[in-house]
Amino acid sequence: MSPIISIRHLSKTYASGFTALDDVDLDIRRGEIFALLGPNGAGKTTLISIVCGIVNATSGSVEVDGRDIRRDYRFTRSQIGLVPQELTTDAFETPRGALAFSRGLFGKPPNPTYVEKVLRDLSLWNRRDSRIMTLSGGMKRRLLIAKALAHEPRILFLDEPTAGVDVELRRDMWQLVRELREGGVTIILTTHYIEEAEEMADRVGVINKGRIILVEDKATLMRKLGRKELVLHLQAPLAEIPAALAAYHLQLASDGNDLIYTYESDGDATGIASLLDALDAAGIGFKDLKTSESSLEDIFVRLVHEGAPA
Ligand SMILES: Nc1ncnc2c1ncn2[C@@H]1O[C@H](COP(=O)(O)OP(=O)(O)OP(=O)(O)O)[C@@H](O)[C@H]1O
Ligand SMILES: [Mg+2]
Repeated sequence: MSPIISIRHLSKTYASGFTALDDVDLDIRRGEIFALLGPNGAGKTTLISIVCGIVNATSGSVEVDGRDIRRDYRFTRSQIGLVPQELTTDAFETPRGALAFSRGLFGKPPNPTYVEKVLRDLSLWNRRDSRIMTLSGGMKRRLLIAKALAHEPRILFLDEPTAGVDVELRRDMWQLVRELREGGVTIILTTHYIEEAEEMADRVGVINKGRIILVEDKATLMRKLGRKELVLHLQAPLAEIPAALAAYHLQLASDGNDLIYTYESDGDATGIASLLDALDAAGIGFKDLKTSESSLEDIFVRLVHEGAPA
């Protein structure tokens, strides 16, 4: 199936001369949840803003459902709901009014039943007629999502959707996003909470300094780059690692009390059995051992620092 969004050779140099995007190619698949990860200033909001027609690209092209975002702006924009990173609220409007207005902007006929459903889904129904300025920060964030959904878009961009939202509400929002996906909406989210990408995404893209450095199925990414760690808590501290164990590239930690062994989690032979034999032969006893798996966060930090994997 053709991608729902197709980005080719997209570059953006701002008037200041700063290049925020540098030759970005990216396809978004129909119906997926795609997480775009990147440090501050990587170009995430710029990328989203171009696809949504808020910022003009310097070069390159974007198609939404096969149609060019410049030539067919009205069509492509109507397909997209955008939850912006910055809170923008019309203080005197009410949630219900804001949604009705938003539908109108996109030429959609009034639909109070749909508006009620969206407000209920976002736990805003009991505040539907309150002035927006009287809502809490978390409610305002949810209202941004509600507004983005007002015209029943098929693609939803969430730019840092859960910044400043408490843990419980964040879980509710994840649930809502999953339900939207089940209803056929394609979701692209940017986030600093790697936990969020790990929890939600089907695919993950990593952007750094305006370049996409990796796009991968989340599961594949975690398997490919996932390293496991075995920590052996020793019976007696070691001053240094014995030469006989050099082949295992161990690290010494906690004042010589812990030996750390790192191995690839997708390998057949982890080397643990032979390591334990070698420790035994070297007369090194341990009291306890534990293993841990690297998270998407570890992978991300490694990628941004070391660049793309070979
Ligand atoms: N209007 C502008 N004029 C000049 N430079 C800009 C403008 N907007 C953004 N930039 C710069 O472009 C770069 C990318 O910004 P962008 O907002 O796309 O990053 P981001 O990945 O969304 O970051 P964050 O995670 O902090 O939201 C930054 O260095 C930013 O300062
Ligand atoms: Mg941003």
